[in-house]
Amino acid sequence: MKWLCSVGIAVSLALQPALADELFGDHPLTPQARDAFVSELLKKMTTDEKIGQLRLISVGPDNPKEAIREMIKQGQVGAIFNTVTRGDIRAMQDQVMDLSRLKIPLFFAYDVVHGQRTVFPISLGLASSFNLEAVKTVGRISAYEAADDGLNMTWAPMVDVSRDPRWGRASEGFGEDTYLTEVMGRTMVEAMQGKSPADRYSVMTSVKHFAAYGAVEGGREYNSVDMSPQRLFNDYMPPYKAALDAGSGGVMVALNSLNGTPASADSWLLKDLLRDQWGFKGITISDHGAIKELIKHGVASDPRDAVRVALKSGINMSMSDEYYSKYLPELLSSGAVTMQELDDAARHVLNVKYDMGLFNDPYSHLGPKGSDPQNTNAESRLHRQQAREVARESLVLLKNRLQTLPLKKSATIAVVGPLADSQRDMMGSWSAAGVATQTVTVLTGMKNVVGESGKILYAKGANVTDDKGIVDFLNQYEQAVSVDSRSPQEMIDEAVNTAKQADVVVAVVGEAQGMAHEASSRTELALPQSQRQLIAALKATGKPLVLVLMNGRPLTLVKEDQQADAILETWFAGTEGGNAIADVLFGDYNPSGKLPMSFPRSVGQIPVYYSHLNTGRPYNPEKPNKYTSRYFDEVNAPLYPFGYGLSYTTFRVSPVTLSAPTMKRDGALKASVEVINTGDREGATAVQMYLQDVTASISRPVKVLKGFQKISLKPGETRTVTFPIDNEALKFWNARMQYVSEPGQFNVFIGLDSARVQQGSFELQ
Ligand code: BGC
Repeated sequence: MKWLCSVGIAVSLALQPALADELFGDHPLTPQARDAFVSELLKKMTTDEKIGQLRLISVGPDNPKEAIREMIKQGQVGAIFNTVTRGDIRAMQDQVMDLSRLKIPLFFAYDVVHGQRTVFPISLGLASSFNLEAVKTVGRISAYEAADDGLNMTWAPMVDVSRDPRWGRASEGFGEDTYLTEVMGRTMVEAMQGKSPADRYSVMTSVKHFAAYGAVEGGREYNSVDMSPQRLFNDYMPPYKAALDAGSGGVMVALNSLNGTPASADSWLLKDLLRDQWGFKGITISDHGAIKELIKHGVASDPRDAVRVALKSGINMSMSDEYYSKYLPELLSSGAVTMQELDDAARHVLNVKYDMGLFNDPYSHLGPKGSDPQNTNAESRLHRQQAREVARESLVLLKNRLQTLPLKKSATIAVVGPLADSQRDMMGSWSAAGVATQTVTVLTGMKNVVGESGKILYAKGANVTDDKGIVDFLNQYEQAVSVDSRSPQEMIDEAVNTAKQADVVVAVVGEAQGMAHEASSRTELALPQSQRQLIAALKATGKPLVLVLMNGRPLTLVKEDQQADAILETWFAGTEGGNAIADVLFGDYNPSGKLPMSFPRSVGQIPVYYSHLNTGRPYNPEKPNKYTSRYFDEVNAPLYPFGYGLSYTTFRVSPVTLSAPTMKRDGALKASVEVINTGDREGATAVQMYLQDVTASISRPVKVLKGFQKISLKPGETRTVTFPIDNEALKFWNARMQYVSEPGQFNVFIGLDSARVQQGSFELQ
């Protein structure tokens, strides 16, 4: 019977070869040619084939390869994700070409967020580089490696501004600041898509998660978001808009509700704003299972209703959700969904396939048969040098008492801590097709540098956590955290004995990567108790103590700041992390990273971010007053402010010079400072410019970042750093939701972090 069926299909295919073959050719990659082509194609498609285009499937236990083959044959699949080797991808594209009626190519997508085979630092770390060249490197190489694996699309960049470190996904974004996130996201899109996503080594991006996912209440994952239109448009929307202006072909829609409406059911968000006002022409994709979740959100009564709501609201493609295929046929026949609505959604999917060049060559990212790599994880496919260079720039020196760092290569060094030799953690979350065994740990990186000239001793010292519940949580889906069976005291004793034999102790502590991930919200941001005990014991040895932090979010470190002589924040630094960290620890690279998120003193301070409003009763630590906006049991300022990071050299910033005291709206001016390297070694730093609209029709933040430049100076060298300011930089959404600049006084702040700045001011006329 099975055999008969397949013969039947072969016969029907044989009857219409021209129909499919005429799809492929040399199609010019212009919007006009695309629109005409897609209109013609839609006319040839059956309703089921159109519905099939909306289905995005993850190959896995729920959708085994054999079942997918059958769906492909029937034209019931539009795209595949989580399949990452050329061989697997080619086999599926072959099925389309050999078995389906219209041969509409599949596209293949994956979460290439901070690297593909080569893992770069997590995005929060990349943001710390304050260097768009580093972002370009990550974007280009990630796209190259992804395309070389046959992928056409990545679920990146993630540009959710987040001011709440309790949220585990803060690790995936570029931090708390709108401007930094905006320029980094835009650069990532440009780098990944290159001249065209159709190019052999480019991939199309899908900016996520639209919109405002980073503002979930209490930092609790998947929670609701409620915010004023002013905050939404002034602080949270610009990064998505910038990524789209840069040409991102996809938008992944957020899982949260925004002002009561789940994003996947929000026609204002997905149609009025995204399509009508912003002119977006690519595809919208629901996040994993989001259509089903509309029922739990309480905006759809049953699965059929959820499909109706999602499609009508503007969700084109449904990720890992069979609901579209299941319920659209009857919704169409009952008239609840119109053919026009289905055509619109299918058109967007076909549009991006066209833009990916798949109708010119469905194998464009696969190359000729027989060219697939023998070993997809071959060393030769990695870009280690670039990974090391970017990772070095992502490291932030938070403290360096009495020049504890850099370390001497001839010293005896005790390396301790649960993360010191963890390859899995060094990769961070969403490490795509990265392989842990190819990853360099801090211990290995330090040994590589020291070689025979010094001595590295090692003791684990503690487990990441002694809380069994948390270990079980972290090991739910992979054996990510291994637990040493010795008692905490035995481990500490060993570490203390090791420390006693050394000149200096380097403790590698922080979070397991799974603690800073999707669905990894925390209520406490302290280091786990097991590690705090280890640090206290190491401190008691009296040896100089260096903390190397690995973590995916700001932590509360007041105690550690007192205990440690030096602290280096390294996030999760990727494949070459250990080598990059060793470069900094031993002074072969002078650290230059700056924090993209404020580090709170305590969880109770959250949200603590630099661009807050002044309030009517701002607290002034120099003139304390009870009735001011403050906590009586804690200072208002964070432990380490946004933009902060030290160097092995020192810099001085001169007062601000403005090219004119006034500016007309159609004019521009320049703000400059002189930066001097006052130390005795070469070093780089990010010079930051902030603006404040002093008196406006609504309260504006005390400062907002509007420019930064990373410069490198030799000892004694001085550089003039100039920031252009134009009307665009002064605009904001006012109470009537008009995007305006308003005349009056503006302050200009320039400095090496958001707290210590030089100030100038000018008048906008
Ligand atoms: C995440 C997305 C991700 C998707 C596919 C979801 O759970 O929210 O960010 O792109 O899975 O892996």
